[in-house]
Parts: sequence; structure tokens; C-alpha cells
Amino acid sequence: MSAPDRPSDAPLRVAVVGAGVMGRYHATNYATLPKVRVAAVVEVDEARRHEAQQAYGCAGYATLAELLAHEEVDAASVAVPTSLHYAVTRALLEAGVHVLVEKPVATDVAQARALARLSAEQGLVLQVGHITRFYSAVQMLAREVRRPYLIEARRLSPSQRVKDVGVVLDLMIHDIDIVFGLMGNGNGVVEVVASGLPLNGSPLEDVAVAQIKFEDGCLARFLASRVSPDPERTMLIAERDKTVRVDFAKEPYSEVQFFRTPGSAAHAGHVKLDRHLVHDENPLRKELEHFLARIRGTTDPIGTLDDDLRSLELATRILAAMREDESVPVH
Ligand SMILES: NC(=O)c1ccc[n+]([C@@H]2O[C@H](COP(=O)([O-])OP(=O)(O)OC[C@H]3O[C@@H](n4cnc5c(N)ncnc54)[C@H](O)[C@@H]3O)[C@@H](O)[C@H]2O)c1
Repeated sequence: MSAPDRPSDAPLRVAVVGAGVMGRYHATNYATLPKVRVAAVVEVDEARRHEAQQAYGCAGYATLAELLAHEEVDAASVAVPTSLHYAVTRALLEAGVHVLVEKPVATDVAQARALARLSAEQGLVLQVGHITRFYSAVQMLAREVRRPYLIEARRLSPSQRVKDVGVVLDLMIHDIDIVFGLMGNGNGVVEVVASGLPLNGSPLEDVAVAQIKFEDGCLARFLASRVSPDPERTMLIAERDKTVRVDFAKEPYSEVQFFRTPGSAAHAGHVKLDRHLVHDENPLRKELEHFLARIRGTTDPIGTLDDDLRSLELATRILAAMREDESVPVH
């Protein structure tokens, strides 16, 4: 059952579908925001469902069909495993519910396009959880970076929580999305070279490396791993007059360093360093606030569905390039 039109200042009723790690973060943050109420969780695991019901004082359902039969909700966060994003998001949009779906929007581009079309037809917000768009450090990069000739992104983790997709759709897609945000529209990808290796017993890649060439000649190199001894989330961006180094993992800060080379020959060899510690506490809260503001019609989207599709398209192109590289056994 979808929510009929109500006064624009009425509290929004949200459901969280999938009360695992991310779903619980979503619910916990909604619970701290004004003018929104966690109405229900949908979770197949009984123990997790009961725990979430108690924590948020809300209804709990084992299936989406039960939620839609019993509750009127305005919006939902979708935090089920990635392979279920498409089916769950589609059912919610068809029922007239605004959706914030965790990244990636779907596992293939045709499904993502179908969801984008459906949300437009229904006049509903469909936002994809590209959380890095809400990092102050990423917003700073968007202001400062002009025309890079080289980007290197490393996103390494010792653990593998997500099991139904490989590391490209799990982790690398964050950096792909950040890099597209810096490259500007109309600067297409002309070359993709990629390799990946499954190491945890499943056929999906756990380590992946990709090199992308953009139309303007910029090279972007991505390394993502979920079998790394140490965690790392860094990015290096080189331009003619400066190099920017970002460490996203100094929680609750990101460290952004600008190494600027003075233009004059008299100062050749000198480098001026500007170091910024950017407060990046709880970008998820900003992402959810943005979603709710979009539903209320009080803000324009930070990142469009076209941006989401562009990131997913490149991720799937990287996966295709990986499969063509027959020297490594990724299927
Ligand atoms: N934005 C980010 O930084 C970020 C970080 C981690 C994960 N994610 C994304 O969030 C999603 C969830 O990841 P997670 O780490 O929370 O996984 P998780 O395994 O901790 O949680 C998924 C939950 O969904 C439940 N579930 C499975 N099928 C269901 C169904 N049909 N209906 C209702 N519940 C169902 C599972 O029982 C589980 O509790 C993934 O798509 C992942 O890519 C995003």
C-alpha cells in the first residue's frame, strides 16, 4: 500500500528493507532525524528482525509483500544484498514508494536503466547510496581539481562482508564514482584494461586492478581488494601545477594534501604543501537528509541517475575486460 498525498510538513514514514550492517546504520540515522519515523523493517532473518523492531520501536516483516500489504510508507531504504537490489527496488517503486537503494543500484546496466525509467514514470525519487558524494573531502576535490592527467585510487579492506558480488561492484565502484565526479561530462572513457583474481573460494574477484584512459588523455588507475592485510582508502590526483593526496580513512576526518609547484623558474624544485583535515563524520546522515529533502522537493539531486548509470556502466565494462583477460581465472 503506498502513501496517499499528505501535508508536505507531515513526518515521512520510512521502511528499511534488509536490517544487516548497512540497514541498521540507515535505521539508526533516520531515528535521529526530524520529521521522519522508522515505520517498519523488512528482514528475512528472524533474530535480526526482532532486534531491529525493538531497537527502533517499529513493525517488522519477513517479506516485502507483507510490508506493502500492511503499511503505508512514503519511502524506503534498500539494504539487502546487491543481487536483490533490482527486484526489491522495482517492487517498491511500483507500489509508489520513494527509494534510497544502497550502491550499486543493480548488478547490470539494463536493470539499472529500467529502474531509472520506472522512477521517472512514477514521479518518485530513486537515489543510489553513493555515499562518497557526501564526503566533504570529495566535495573539496570537485572544487579544486581542474584537469588531472593521472589519478590513482586504492581501496583495500581485510574483510569480505559482501559475498554476492565481487570487489569491483563492492568497493571499486566508490572510486569510479568519485573519479567521474572529477572528470566532467563529455570526457568519455576510451580504453579499459583490467585484471582480477578470486582468492576466497568463490568465483568472484577479490582483488581487482583497472586502468582507464579518458578522451582527454587522463589515466585513472584503480586497485581494490578485500583480502588486504591492512585497510586503505586513498587517492592521488596529479595535475600540471599540483598533486593532491587524499586519505579518506582518518576517521572522523579525511586528510587532503595539496602539493603545489610554483609557476616561476626561480622557484623550480620548490613545493608548497597545504594540508587540510576535513571533518567527515557521518556522511550517511547527510545522504539520508538529502534523500528526505528530495522527497519534500526542497533540494536538487547531488548526483543524478545518469551519474549512477555511468559509474555502473564503467564497473561492468571493467568486469567484461577482466573476463577477456584469460591469463587470470575470473568468471
Ligand atoms: N554505501 C556503502 O558504503 C556501503 C557499505 C557496505 C555495504 N553497502 C551495500 O549495502 C548492501 C547491504 O550490505 P550489508 O553489508 O549491510 O549486508 P548484510 O549482509 O549485513 O545485510 C543484508 C541483510 O539483508 C537481509 N536480507 C536478505 N534477503 C532479504 C530479503 N529478501 N528481504 C529482506 N531482507 C533480506 C539479510 O538477512 C541481511 O540481514 C549491499 O548492496 C552493499 O553493497 C554499501
